Amino acid sequence: RTKYYKVDLSEPDLSVLAAAADILKQGGLVAFPTETVYGLGANGLDAHAVAGIFRAKGRPADNPLILHIDSPDKINDLAVSVPGSAQALIGQYWPGPLTVIVERRSCVPDAVTGGLNTVAVRLPASLIARELIRLAGVPVAAPSANISGRPSPTAAQDVLADMDGKIDAVIDAGPCAIGVESTVVDCTTPVPTLLRPGGITYEMLTAVLGEVEVDPALAGSRAVPKSPGMKYTHYAPLAPMFLVEGDRSIVVREVQQALAAGKRVGAVVSAETAAGLPPAAITVVYGSHADAHAIAANLYTALRSFDNKAVDVIYAEGIAEQGLGLAVMNRMRKAAGYRIIRN
Ligand code: TXA
Ligand code: MG
Repeated sequence: RTKYYKVDLSEPDLSVLAAAADILKQGGLVAFPTETVYGLGANGLDAHAVAGIFRAKGRPADNPLILHIDSPDKINDLAVSVPGSAQALIGQYWPGPLTVIVERRSCVPDAVTGGLNTVAVRLPASLIARELIRLAGVPVAAPSANISGRPSPTAAQDVLADMDGKIDAVIDAGPCAIGVESTVVDCTTPVPTLLRPGGITYEMLTAVLGEVEVDPALAGSRAVPKSPGMKYTHYAPLAPMFLVEGDRSIVVREVQQALAAGKRVGAVVSAETAAGLPPAAITVVYGSHADAHAIAANLYTALRSFDNKAVDVIYAEGIAEQGLGLAVMNRMRKAAGYRIIRN
């Protein structure tokens, strides 16, 4: 059975977090909230505990995990050295939705890094996450707490939908504020490389670093990404999805055509576009098209909401790739399996 703990976001009951931390210390699996998405945590220095994460998620063993810490200096226990670029980013954006890739120490198990000589490290902003890590007394390995390939969970119900009975406990602190995962930056390259866009925007990275390389795999192509996890289909709802990039009137046209062909059609769109869609479509609004923050916060819930609606096909409306829009578009392209309609 999966234990369920409800805690207050701003004043968490420390005795509840201590009970959850004990589970981690004993090698168990605990799903917990962060400011980005819910994570599935295990003792990051215990290869056996970490193996449980891969089993529960059905995650390929070559997709490495992020180690979560509760204070910035702890990165020195995990990294051989912390390059200047990483130090600059950490100084500016930790605690927060930023993960840095650094050269690993030998104490970090192969199970965590997928055999790479680097390790991903993050200090979350979420008070609950940091208290849990502090009480556990170890770095906490945690991928998003979804079944591999599914949209990441941004609420405890989403975690339970995928993980009930497979993990020891879940800590519920309500919906996640940001709603897309952390930004992953490889700091071992001469010029730091953006591997996954996320809560810390590209603009925020260049403000600190000046120059940032972007992994070519992010350009929308299927080039083999440097971040192992980025090569898998991800974030996908159960029904096939098409992403419309370009004029919003195309969403309306595609939905009309699919309805005319007798399909049950889902649409995940802005409030502005929703107003023009036929009532026969099952429409989920992710926010105003000008508000990338709201769209990021609502995206995964919107995608998951189609799971119990028996639609044949989903059309999603793209947004501008500025700020959080870059992360949103990256996730939507993957959720669509790169089925993209441009005109
Ligand atoms: O916001 C987040 O980052 C959430 C919360 C729970 O912290 N975690 C998360 O973990 O999204 P996960 O496992 O779903 O995504 C981690 C990403 C994957 O794309 C993985 O391949 C990449 O980070 N990664 C991990 N270690 C790496 C390494 N050593 N080199 C390159 N990429 C790495
Ligand atoms: Mg994930």
